[in-house]
Amino acid sequence: MKIDKIFENNKAWIKEKLNLDGQYFENLSKGQSPEILYIGCADSRVTAEELMGVAPGDVFVHRNIANMVPNTDLSSMSVIEYAVGHLNVNHVVVCGHYYCGGVKAAMASSDLGVLNPWLRNIRDVARLHKAELDAISDEDAKYKRLIELNVQEQCVNVLKTAVVQRAFRDRGLTVHGWVFDIHSGQLIDLNFDFNKSMSQIMEIYHLD
Ligand code: CO
Repeated sequence: MKIDKIFENNKAWIKEKLNLDGQYFENLSKGQSPEILYIGCADSRVTAEELMGVAPGDVFVHRNIANMVPNTDLSSMSVIEYAVGHLNVNHVVVCGHYYCGGVKAAMASSDLGVLNPWLRNIRDVARLHKAELDAISDEDAKYKRLIELNVQEQCVNVLKTAVVQRAFRDRGLTVHGWVFDIHSGQLIDLNFDFNKSMSQIMEIYHLD
């Protein structure tokens, strides 16, 4: 794709929006009050808004390699703090996707420089769930399961934060774990048992 084409597309998009609603950008500039925080993979094929069919203003989006929420990552922690504590979103979604290159890289032994500590968080997920993963002989099935377990553990990382625990108590905020299946285009809800997990997580990570 040529960079110039993007600016042409942008002009066409402005025209399209204004044809439908002359006040579109004026209204958009007034502020945002999204209901959902979406944390997904930076993969170019997994476009957050398009696959969910949502419009500008609907979803607060954070994307990084392999949809991670590392405990000491200032970027994702700031996004959670702002979206939950200031924008008051009521849903936090962690969305992984099958055939995620980040998860694939974490399953291999290559030294990838500065990517190593990032991907090590996925290796930690594999270690936590070693027994389950070792029982899967099919490599493709194991790869898919690690992607799902990684989503689950990143949801747990979301639940460890004080701002999310407070929003859970005060207004019933919900955390969702999803996977996008690139093969079919389908968005799959992993039906993360939020309430059950919360009591287990709170036993260790509870903050007042
Ligand atoms: Co990915």
